[in-house]
Amino acid sequence: MPAGMAIPMLPADARLDFDFKGGVTDKRLFPWDVWRRCVNQALRTQQRAGGGVAAYRDPGGEQELRLGVSRYLAFSRAVVCNWQDVVVTQGAQQALDLVGRVVIQPGDVVAVEEPGYPPARALFAALGAKLAHVPVDREGLIVDRLPKHARLVYVTPSHQFPLGMPMSLARRVELLEWAKRHGAVIVEDDYDGEFRFEGRPVESLKSLDRAGLVAYVGTFSKTLFPDLRMGYVVPPESLREPLWTAKRAGDWHSCMLTQTALGTFMLNGEFAKHLRRMHKAYAKRRAALIGLLTDELGDAFEPMPATAGIHLVAQLAPGWDEDDVMKAALDASIGVYGIGPFYAGERREQGVLIGYGGASVEAIEGGFRRLATLMPGLRR
Ligand SMILES: Cc1ncc(COP(=O)(O)O)c(C=O)c1O
Repeated sequence: MPAGMAIPMLPADARLDFDFKGGVTDKRLFPWDVWRRCVNQALRTQQRAGGGVAAYRDPGGEQELRLGVSRYLAFSRAVVCNWQDVVVTQGAQQALDLVGRVVIQPGDVVAVEEPGYPPARALFAALGAKLAHVPVDREGLIVDRLPKHARLVYVTPSHQFPLGMPMSLARRVELLEWAKRHGAVIVEDDYDGEFRFEGRPVESLKSLDRAGLVAYVGTFSKTLFPDLRMGYVVPPESLREPLWTAKRAGDWHSCMLTQTALGTFMLNGEFAKHLRRMHKAYAKRRAALIGLLTDELGDAFEPMPATAGIHLVAQLAPGWDEDDVMKAALDASIGVYGIGPFYAGERREQGVLIGYGGASVEAIEGGFRRLATLMPGLRR
């Protein structure tokens, strides 16, 4: 497989004393009793739907959930939309797939961030796109480096994946202007922007979009858990109908039971409550991690500036090598993950990605104190 197209994973049964994998969330803090009630209620709704005749549902999704999402987006991301504008998908990944299917013709150029998110790259490549890997700097995607003929630009502006910095407002405006000039579609993947720990939120691209260019993609994989497989897309008006049709062509619609349960969870205020609880927990973990990286591992690591998300990248100082660190950490039963695989070309930074979604403060302290004992011996 070409570089930058897959997230390296340990075998599913690998058990480490401390694992700081990215992309996982903490199910231990999820309100299972509340969820169980929502699912039970959804079962009753499902039983009654259609008056005893089972039939297919709206490909766009269940109204309750779409309403919950549209209200949430208006409130938290200033994305003004009606419930009919929301298409419910099987995670963000299916949202990217649907947008790709309706926008890209084989051979079209799709611009992705470098370094970037391998599953999005692999998907666009599978749809026949030619990928243009556009570098990012501390302000996000470097708009000047976009190829003129890109048909679609895929970005992660709240929390650049994997490095973490938010895209600056100036760059957002520049990107929107660029897309307008070149007739390109922008996919804004807002995968974990809910968890913002510093500063005021920068306006989402979707909220700044006056020309109807942005497909806003969201997911419940970080706010709830990834095995729920729930996400959504708010496309520009011009793509609404084609996306709805593509969803129907692909799988008719997402699971009614999960959608209905999640709709109730959102409209009853439980989602907002859960986000507040998780925000507090993740903020403590993040503070503990940054404290340890700075105080006990400051010679070797420098956390990259990130204001949001549930992982961060710590850059390695000259003298240490990412692969050596990862291997020694694994030998000591600690999972930290190099950022090399997120580059399609030559890597420009050496560093490790540290997920704190699934690790308690105690685990962070235990893991990073253990790592601190290894680092001096790894200096080249
Ligand atoms: C950049 C990015 N987008 C989206 C997702 C979530 O994808 P999905 O909703 O398909 O689980 C992730 C998960 O790690 C991610 O890192």
